[in-house]
Amino acid sequence: MSAPLLPGHPHIHYANDQLHVEGCSLDALSLSHGTPLFVYSKASMLDALAAYQRGFAGRNARICYAIKANSSLAILQVFAAAGCGFDIVSEGELARVLAAGADASKVIFSGVGKTRAEMAQALRVGIGCFNVESEAEIDVLNEVALSTGTRAAISIRVNPNVDPKTHPYISTGLKGNKFGIAHERTLVTYQRAAALPGLQVVGIDCHIGSQITQDTPYLDAMDRMLDLVESIEAAGIPIHHIDFGGGLGINYNGDTPPAADALWNKLLAKLDARGFGQRQLMIEPGRSLVGNAGVCVTEVLYMKPGEQKNFCIVDAAMNDLPRPAMYQAFHTIVPVQQAASPSASSEVYDVVGPVCESGDWIGHDRALQVQAGDKLAVLSAGAYCMSMSSNYNSRPKAAEILVDGTQSHLIRQRDSFADQIRGEKLL
Ligand code: LLP
Repeated sequence: MSAPLLPGHPHIHYANDQLHVEGCSLDALSLSHGTPLFVYSKASMLDALAAYQRGFAGRNARICYAIKANSSLAILQVFAAAGCGFDIVSEGELARVLAAGADASKVIFSGVGKTRAEMAQALRVGIGCFNVESEAEIDVLNEVALSTGTRAAISIRVNPNVDPKTHPYISTGLKGNKFGIAHERTLVTYQRAAALPGLQVVGIDCHIGSQITQDTPYLDAMDRMLDLVESIEAAGIPIHHIDFGGGLGINYNGDTPPAADALWNKLLAKLDARGFGQRQLMIEPGRSLVGNAGVCVTEVLYMKPGEQKNFCIVDAAMNDLPRPAMYQAFHTIVPVQQAASPSASSEVYDVVGPVCESGDWIGHDRALQVQAGDKLAVLSAGAYCMSMSSNYNSRPKAAEILVDGTQSHLIRQRDSFADQIRGEKLL
């Protein structure tokens, strides 16, 4: 292997001037499968998981992969085989994890708007725990559990009111957010839940946001959570597990989030110091397990020089890679084949897709040495890309490949037109 592109991610690298994911050349994969094409490194996902596992060595902890980051079945299968549980937010996600072979008892169900039908289905299959987000939901879950003759194990998601210092759309633990129960209401809400016959209080939960790159918000949130655990237990309600959510960021653009094991060393030191070191822990990481394991390969369709801007028009678009349009997110873009003469001059381009709106951009002001027909790779595309993709402009959803060493597996075929119109009816 040579020249990894992202520090700590050796599996995406150039060899003989060709970009590879593990032992597979992206040029070869895109010739066989077309573009846009998502390609994931299994080793990279397992490395990311191993950092958490190292952090939790010797502890009673469960890693529940938050599948909203990438819910493709084969990816879920990799994490199920590695022993993970799953964090889900809908009946569809529940069906996905079960289809991938998950053990239902290792599934936790988060989200502010669970329907009665979703609750009933989750109880029927025997999920491990509901993360309940409001007082109204507590009453409904109690009713649904009683009507199905079961008891629902619950954690209450508390809103610790700490600033995760991330994009406002992905901050979730602040007072003004729709998530969780306000810190001040936590104890009364626990007392109310503990008195309901259809519920069994088992834990406490928080999730403060996503793409968090500092450890202070986590350390502050842990202190606030432990204060709550102390007061809830003092009121006679035992808390068996502490679920600390997900949110750890990845390096998109020189970001330097703490490594998962380093972060957990600090958090566990805090838990130990406060006497909670042996408590069962759960976490719900999404992005940090898959984000930097994936790339999206796209072909350059046209070069369009202009007076104010030069455009590089590619065949991937906001329907495949929605993060730039939604969050002004930055994804590194690199050539699949390194230029024969790296010293040749590059031009500055806006890399844009074919979708008919100006919000359809993938990268602004990127220095690239490219021409039509070249292929580019959009990095850090393993999380919140395919799972947020759409058929906007009646574009097919892209194909996905999982690479394992020198083997590549097609894990999702590109949408056909029949896939796109399935379920539609003419008058
Ligand atoms: N647990 C809960 C309750 C969540 O809401 C989320 C993410 C996670 C866990 C996983 O968070 P992660 O470890 O992936 O940061 N689409 C946005 C990110 C939205 C995150 C939503 N919740 C993006 O592309 O940046």
